[in-house]
Amino acid sequence: MLEKIIKAFKNRFGADPDFVVRSPGRINLIGEHTDYNEGFVFPMAIKYAQWLAIKANKTDHVSLYSADIDKDVVFSVTDFSQKITGWACYPQGIAWALHDNGYPLKGWDGLLLGDLPLGAGLSSSAALDLVTARAFSLTGGFQWDPIQMSVISKQSENQWIGLNNGIMDQLISATGEKGKAILIDCRSLDIQPHALPTDTIIVVMNTMVKHALVESGYNDRFRQCMEGAKAFGKKFLRDVTMEEFNDGADRLDEVIRRRCRHVISENARTLEAAGCMERNDPVRLGQLMNESHASLRDDFEVSCEELDIMAEEGQKQPGCYGARMTGGGFGGSAIALVKTEYAELFMKNIALIYEAKTGIKPNIFATDAERGTSVEYTKD
Ligand code: GLA
Repeated sequence: MLEKIIKAFKNRFGADPDFVVRSPGRINLIGEHTDYNEGFVFPMAIKYAQWLAIKANKTDHVSLYSADIDKDVVFSVTDFSQKITGWACYPQGIAWALHDNGYPLKGWDGLLLGDLPLGAGLSSSAALDLVTARAFSLTGGFQWDPIQMSVISKQSENQWIGLNNGIMDQLISATGEKGKAILIDCRSLDIQPHALPTDTIIVVMNTMVKHALVESGYNDRFRQCMEGAKAFGKKFLRDVTMEEFNDGADRLDEVIRRRCRHVISENARTLEAAGCMERNDPVRLGQLMNESHASLRDDFEVSCEELDIMAEEGQKQPGCYGARMTGGGFGGSAIALVKTEYAELFMKNIALIYEAKTGIKPNIFATDAERGTSVEYTKD
């Protein structure tokens, strides 16, 4: 990928780039729709990533070309009165959020190239946020602080893009570690790396049903969770225990009750999952993943028929410990925790079953945990 992006940059801009940066996509093992409730999540960065080659251009404009979709855009790093729509609102939003927080910004020419599928629930937007932030830190000369840059990216998504999402995607894309999934406390932003159980691998099952969170029920779920927390006299559902929920559940509207039950039980499952990793127990970890899927399907209602097929058929396969939808839902991808020696068979079987049931050819791949945002090339 490095050679390819340098070559593409030279073709486009007639010079070598100053830097090439990359930021990966992610899956989430467990802890879904808990981040914006200040709860716990357990994601890991995957092998596919967004790459960006850049060269400072001594102006106050970014001139950005996406080689993946053959589109380009120019935006100012000082004047944000013209809001771009479409894919380029993510890089523009990062410039806006950095500017809003007083970071010094300089213009650059950039070329985007990646192998991370878009709209597959694997956080292509967060990867785009983070490569852009990394580019600005290199050209503007400010220090790279992965956690602070995740906070900036979240601000951009919440206030510029208009999605009330949490910090999981940005934080894992920025801080991922090779071989480790990361337990994140979305309140303190404390991160704890854990190795997957031995001889297991994650298989990602992209349903190819595109999801677009801004237009989906994502913001509705956010509102329902806030309403639920308020009914218990708390700001966030993170602070409502299962006992408090059971005592007060009758007072709640039926839909809000189910939304709360998902978040409160999912936080408990996520913390239990960390214990499973510590004692190397893939069996219990898999059960927790299956329970998480059922809760997202029935109580939180963010699954869809295609995700259910992936998760439920995955769970039946030999060597599979557990399977569930991952990410925001409403389409996108499911994941399975599979005994490594069964991974090939699992992928073959699931591809056949899914296509037979839906008529859609899925994209299925196995991945280890990879490192987060990195600088892959610096011109001497
Ligand atoms: C999307 C959001 C995340 C998180 C997940 C659901 O990926 O961007 O912040 O809420 O959905 O867990």
